[in-house]
Amino acid sequence: MAEQTAGSYAVSIAVQINFGGMLKEKVEQALEFIRQRTDLKPKAGIILGSGLGPFADTLKNRVEIPTRDIPHYPQSTVEGHAGALIFGTHKDVPLLAVKGRTHFYEGYSIQEVTFVIRIMQMLKIPLLMVTNAAGSVNPKLRPGDLMLITDHVNFLFQNPLRGPAEFGQPRFPDMSDVYTRKFFSAIDRIALDRGIALKHGVLWVNTGPTYETAAEVRMVQRFGGDAVSMSTVPEVIVAAQAGMKVIGVSCITNYATGIVAQKLSHDEVTETANRVKEKFTQLMSGIIEILNLL
Ligand code: HPA
Repeated sequence: MAEQTAGSYAVSIAVQINFGGMLKEKVEQALEFIRQRTDLKPKAGIILGSGLGPFADTLKNRVEIPTRDIPHYPQSTVEGHAGALIFGTHKDVPLLAVKGRTHFYEGYSIQEVTFVIRIMQMLKIPLLMVTNAAGSVNPKLRPGDLMLITDHVNFLFQNPLRGPAEFGQPRFPDMSDVYTRKFFSAIDRIALDRGIALKHGVLWVNTGPTYETAAEVRMVQRFGGDAVSMSTVPEVIVAAQAGMKVIGVSCITNYATGIVAQKLSHDEVTETANRVKEKFTQLMSGIIEILNLL
């Protein structure tokens, strides 16, 4: 094997981060392709996690773009998660709904995982709504509950902003109000009006694809996490740098390992997500309805 020189090492690192320092160019090419299909100006980008995919099919005046057609767009490898960007309106609010997100555990770089947020940034979308499935490490959060994300812990040991600051400032984004606090009371009211018991909590993200060990869950508890997930936080970090407001909601699909004496399976996660998808859709729909007022 050829000896690795300092120079070749630097090149391989550059290729790993930001697609070799050309991320912006690639996003621009993707954007050009999208702009040939729609000129809608979405008020919000919404990333549809487990169980919420069908929401995209309810949008009016839909323009659906399969992600496999979009230049440089990373493809979801998760079964049944065909990727698509869906432009359309819900209650007259223009939206971009993202079906089939890509996850870090699929092997993509963290810049690839957040490619769609850079597209949203260049479309000047002011708000990101992000949803996911998460395991509860706090006995007060039960499977089937919905949790408004109030803050997060990034335990990926990776940050999507590492590398050239191609998208401009800030180099060191403030993270004190990432999940926009001024929206919380309006969202709580929407949940209350619909008879949905909306909890609040801190989302902890691990890389996956393993679920946690019981010891890891005890660590998350001691370090202030309420629910664990394998997604969302990278997207939110990029949105924060892009100056987007963020609303995050987790569907608690299971108790994390060790909280109850039971083995964990993906089936349990998808079954719970399917069971609560109606109330989840109702909550998201209620939030979208007031976006014009926020
Ligand atoms: N851990 C990590 N991610 C998850 C879980 C979990 O228990 N449930 C759904 N996504």
